[in-house]
Amino acid sequence: MNSHGANVFDIAKNNGIEIKDIRDFSSNINPLGPSKKALEELKNNLNLLSAYPDVDYIDLRQSISNYVNCNIDNIVLGLGSTEILKDVINFFAPKISMILSPCYSEYENELKKINSEIIEYNLEEKNDFKIDLEDLIKLIREKNIEFLVFANPNNPTGTILKRDDIERILKETDAKILVDETYIEFTDMSIYSSTSLTKNYTNLAVVRGTSKFFALPGIRLGYGLSSNKNLLNSFRDKEVLWQINSVAEICGKVMFSDEEYISHVFYFMTTRRDYIFREISKIKNLKPYKSFGNFILIKILDGINATELRNRLLEDGLVLRDCKTFKNLDENFFRLCILDDEANDKLLNKLRKIYQEVK
Ligand SMILES: Cc1ncc(COP(=O)(O)O)c(C=O)c1O
Repeated sequence: MNSHGANVFDIAKNNGIEIKDIRDFSSNINPLGPSKKALEELKNNLNLLSAYPDVDYIDLRQSISNYVNCNIDNIVLGLGSTEILKDVINFFAPKISMILSPCYSEYENELKKINSEIIEYNLEEKNDFKIDLEDLIKLIREKNIEFLVFANPNNPTGTILKRDDIERILKETDAKILVDETYIEFTDMSIYSSTSLTKNYTNLAVVRGTSKFFALPGIRLGYGLSSNKNLLNSFRDKEVLWQINSVAEICGKVMFSDEEYISHVFYFMTTRRDYIFREISKIKNLKPYKSFGNFILIKILDGINATELRNRLLEDGLVLRDCKTFKNLDENFFRLCILDDEANDKLLNKLRKIYQEVK
C-alpha cells in the first residue's frame, strides 16, 4: 500500500460509487484535462502505435528544450518524474541527505533504499510552513549535508523558494540539489523556476512531470535537466531502448507548445486558487495556508478531524487528502486540490456547513 493521493479504483469499489461520480480533490490533477491539440494529434496518429517510437526522441526532446529554454543535450527522459527522482538520487548516492518535513514521501523512500542518513528540515506551523532560508543554509553547512531534495512548490504545504534563494544555497553550501518542479507551472516561473540555473551549476538537477499541470498522469512522461556530464552519462548508460511509449511521445511533441492551453490552465487555476483561499478563510474553524501549487493545505481549528471529514465527504463522492501520514502534520490537517467550479462549490458548501455549525 502507498500513502499517496486516493486510489479512486478502490474507493469506487469499497463505497459502491462509480468512478465517474467521484470528485478527486486528492490527486492534484488539473481538472481541465489535457491539451486538446495533443489529444487530436494522438487521434490522428494512432497508426504510429504500430511502429517503434524514435529511439532518440529527437522531436520530443526538441519540444521540451524549446519549452524550458535549455540545451537539448541536457535533457533526460523518464517514466514520470518518479523514475527520474529515483535515478538522480541513485546517481548522487549521498551518505547524508536532507528533505523538508512535511514533503512528498518518495524522496525518503528512495533515500532509505540506498541507506542515506536523512536529516529533516522542519517546516514549522508557526512560520506558516515557510522555509527560513538563513536557517536552512546554516543547517546544511552544520550537518555537512551532501544532498538536498525538495519540491518547489512543496507538496503538501504549497510553500516555495525563489530561484535566487536556490542559487544562494548552491553558492553558500556544497550540497547537491534536486528540485522537483512537478507543480511549478501553477506559479510565476520567471521568479520561481530554477531550470535556468542548471546551465551554470553542475550540482543542480531539476525534474518535472506531465501528470499535474498537463493532466496526463497516464502517459508517465517526466523529464530532468542538468548540465552535470556524469549524471547525463549515467542516464544514457542505463537507458532502455524505446523507454518512452508512443502516446507520451506524440502528446509531448505537441502540448508543450500549446500556448493557448497553457495560459488558459494557468489563468483558471490561479483565479480559482485565490477564490477558494478567500472562501475557506471565511469559514470560522478552518485556516488555509497560502499556496503556490494547485492545492491548498488547510488546518481544522475546531470540529470533526480530517479523517472524519474525509469519511463524511466520501458519502457524496468527494475525496480529500487527510494529512495524518505526513510528518509534522496530524489529523487536523487536510489538503484539497482545485477542481472545476461545480465541484469546488459543492465542496465549499459542505465545508461551510460542517465547520460553521461548530461553536
Ligand atoms: C511533489 C511530487 N513529485 C512527484 C510526483 C509524481 O509525479 P509523476 O506522476 O510525474 O511521477 C508527485 C505526485 O503526487 C508529487 O506530488
